[in-house]
Amino acid sequence: MKTELFKTDSPLLGVVHLTKAGELIARGETVVFPTETVYGLGANALDESAVKKIFEAKGRPADNPLIVHIADRDDLEKLVTEVPEKAEKLMDAFWPGPLTLIMHKSSGVPEVVTAGLDTVAVRFPSNLIALGLIKSAGVPIAAPSANISGRPSPTKSEHVIEDMMGRVSAIIVSEDTDVGLESTVVDTTTEPPTVLRPGGVTVAELEAVIGRVQVSPNAIENVIPEKAKSPGMKYTHYSPKGDLVIVKGTDAEKVEKINRHIKKHEEMQIGILATDETMGNYHSGIIISLGSRENPEEMSHNLFARLRTFDDLGIEKIYAEDIEVGNDTLALANRLYKAGGYHFI
Ligand code: TXA
Ligand code: MG
Repeated sequence: MKTELFKTDSPLLGVVHLTKAGELIARGETVVFPTETVYGLGANALDESAVKKIFEAKGRPADNPLIVHIADRDDLEKLVTEVPEKAEKLMDAFWPGPLTLIMHKSSGVPEVVTAGLDTVAVRFPSNLIALGLIKSAGVPIAAPSANISGRPSPTKSEHVIEDMMGRVSAIIVSEDTDVGLESTVVDTTTEPPTVLRPGGVTVAELEAVIGRVQVSPNAIENVIPEKAKSPGMKYTHYSPKGDLVIVKGTDAEKVEKINRHIKKHEEMQIGILATDETMGNYHSGIIISLGSRENPEEMSHNLFARLRTFDDLGIEKIYAEDIEVGNDTLALANRLYKAGGYHFI
């Protein structure tokens, strides 16, 4: 398939390209576009055969449902049967932005989008290009992250070009995404509402608006809910090509363990994922910092790009320092642990 690249660096070109990209979506084709979280791989959410193209391009299992993106709260009407009061409050507080809400689906949403569930995930992104694309297409856009299934989500246009060239009709080339991790997914059909995936909006921020929420144990532990509530949970995620191991302990213990393992694997290309504060502790291997421990947003912004950097350098084994889990680092730890397949030393 020929993939058109749409660059949005001049305002005039931006408008022309958004019009063309919107036409492609309206015609049932796929377009990769930036959001404030990660790049998305979009198609008309109301067109079954268009949505199937998303699953094909990503190599995504058909039982993992998609998020529907809207550019206006009025668009909700045709997607859901009712809006719970707490969902309404969350929308007032966090839309547009990195929050996805699960509600009961209306019959207008094709089953391919929701993988047969009776609920649908809806998000109103804040990225202006994403909003412009949805408006220009005139339909809600179903979009998962625009990576090949299993790989780290794309936060730079280079990443989507690497993964999606030849697999989609067009790619909108734009700036690096801001948040760097995907949206927070909240199921508002449960009482209290359930955080299925931690993300750009933190649990404390949600609770400040609607009171207590429950957090799926899967947010931090390797548990698969029995009746997979968020079916995406059971698949391998975000993995770099090298074997990623998470190193626990005090800083001194981490250094000792990593140095010992590097010695053991002298024939291998080893990478170390550290922080600004700790990167000086290591003296061999390719040492890359996630950012400052004082700045969890910076670390979140960088995680997926750093994992891909290790891939580009041909690193075979990556030792990542464990993250101290707290409100601001829950999403970061969730992604790192999944990327490493919960392999701790
Ligand atoms: O930030 C984001 O959310 C990005 C950008 C592109 O918007 N999108 C994204 O989509 O991360 P994706 O497909 O990679 O992740 C969607 C997650 C999956 O874990 C999926 O299982 C869950 O949302 N999900 C979707 N619909 C659901 C539903 N009806 N019930 C429970 N979980 C659902
Ligand atoms: Mg994804």
